[in-house]
Amino acid sequence: MVGWFSKVVVATTVRMPKWFVRWVSRRYVAGPRLDDAVEVMKRLTSEGACFTVDVLGEEITSMDEATFFLEEYIRVMNAIQEHQFDANLSIKPTAFGLLIDPEQGLQNIRKLVSMAAEHDMFVRLDMEDHRVTTSTIDVVLALHKEGLTNVGTVLQGRLFRTLADIEWLETELGGLADYRICKGIYLEPEDISFTGYRDIVDATNAAIDSMFAAGAYVGVATHDLPVIDHTLSALESYGMGPGKEDPRKNAGPPRKNKGPGYEFQMLLGVRGPLRRKLLNAGHRTRVYIPYGEKWYEYSIRRLKENPTIGTQVAKAFLMPWTNRP
Ligand code: FDA
Repeated sequence: MVGWFSKVVVATTVRMPKWFVRWVSRRYVAGPRLDDAVEVMKRLTSEGACFTVDVLGEEITSMDEATFFLEEYIRVMNAIQEHQFDANLSIKPTAFGLLIDPEQGLQNIRKLVSMAAEHDMFVRLDMEDHRVTTSTIDVVLALHKEGLTNVGTVLQGRLFRTLADIEWLETELGGLADYRICKGIYLEPEDISFTGYRDIVDATNAAIDSMFAAGAYVGVATHDLPVIDHTLSALESYGMGPGKEDPRKNAGPPRKNKGPGYEFQMLLGVRGPLRRKLLNAGHRTRVYIPYGEKWYEYSIRRLKENPTIGTQVAKAFLMPWTNRP
């Protein structure tokens, strides 16, 4: 249920001048250029964070746009190498063409993932809405079959299908499965997803348990304490944690530039003190850094898709003590 306050925030924001939206989104988006992302990574590297970089943009209308994304991500990869950042890549499969030409989309993603493999770099396929859940997983499976194991996807706790997807990936990849688990940002139809807060938290926690049990690498992407606390208890029950080798018998091999079987992930600008607390306790903590010319479209679209974000953003500005960057 989206409350009236969220609706008001969305209705107001979409009418605001672009400079105002830019001012608000500065906190969440590094800036329009790759240099902006580099500056943010330099700053946060001194805190001990690691990163995943996202070039803003998603569903495209022509395959020429996919070429832009491929080339831009190659620039990102080079910048990461040049500055020796502890960073990997997050891509939106539809920006590579998955919806308009699946074969060509796969080819574009393959190209990036194989270049990344040469640099020991991991590529995360962000999960978009339910139209592409199966095809995104299919891309990961196809690339793993070709020997490209430096790729993994995201699963969304809110979708009913997620536990079955974990079983599917466990059968296909065993301990090589490498996930980001999040609640899911898209407000999906009620016949395929949970819609209430408590149900979504419970389903996300069940997915985390199932991933740990399957020996997978688990990137827990959340700012929500009930999910973080659940993860910390799960880690304890498996004897996993900072500085410990992953003791699970069914775990995949240790991953370069990754944590001991798990990590936490958070968005740039959201709940910095909580992120730093996890970091100081020794957990590997990755910050998702979006940048790109399309920051305006991205901000407005996210807001329209999920108006509760508007409430969180407004709360962060009106009551800054609840959420510092
Ligand atoms: P919840 O929404 O309950 O937030 C908990 C608290 O965090 C809020 O009360 C607020 O204080 C703060 N907060 C959260 N988001 C905020 C915001 N935008 N601004 C200000 N405060 C905020 N989704 C998806 O469908 N596909 C994907 O690939 C990804 N990828 C991804 C990567 C990473 C690193 C993260 C952290 C998240 C995603 N997501 C995503 C988004 C995810 O599915 C989810 O929508 C958000 O993380 C919000 O859910 P939380 O678990 O943080 O809880």
